[in-house]
Amino acid sequence: MNTYVTSAAIRQLRERQNLSQAELADRIGVSSKTVSKWETAKGLPDISLLQPLARALNVSVIELMNGQHIVNKNVSANMLRSKFHVCPICGNMIHSTGNSVISCCGVTLPALEAEDGDHDHRVEIENVEDEHFISIPHPMTKQHYISFVSFVTCDRIQTVKLYPEGNAETRMQLRGRGILYWYCNHHGLFSKRV
Ligand SMILES: [Fe+2]
Repeated sequence: MNTYVTSAAIRQLRERQNLSQAELADRIGVSSKTVSKWETAKGLPDISLLQPLARALNVSVIELMNGQHIVNKNVSANMLRSKFHVCPICGNMIHSTGNSVISCCGVTLPALEAEDGDHDHRVEIENVEDEHFISIPHPMTKQHYISFVSFVTCDRIQTVKLYPEGNAETRMQLRGRGILYWYCNHHGLFSKRV
């Protein structure tokens, strides 16, 4: 994660737009020497130039800071390719159905990679009437807890928010084949195909 725009990001995004240093410089009212300095890490654009620079490079400021241009090829996204992003500062959970650049509390959030449940993060699923009782034998203290459970199939997602001092359990209808996810605020995202 970049904390500020990098020389490599400026160069890559400029080349993707087929702009010369002089053309980019012209669009934002600086000299080509200035752009050259940015691209060789001998200087950084002033923060007041980030918006015009992003516009000239045809990306958002977030994409500029992240150093990549996200092309949305997500028109017929399969929900099974869902990605989860969790803000480490405020705990916000953001779900997306494809690649995206997501930022919260000033932090660019990576798409979380799910692991198989381990002994301390295992899921137990029991059929109860026409639903499933899902439980995760895990601490639920204010410091360390399971914060959500999601069940994703190709066309829908159900998410249940869990709270510290409650139980790490919920009822859900697990209809069809899908992926069950659960998230520990200390140990990250886990998943199981069901
Ligand atoms: Fe944990």
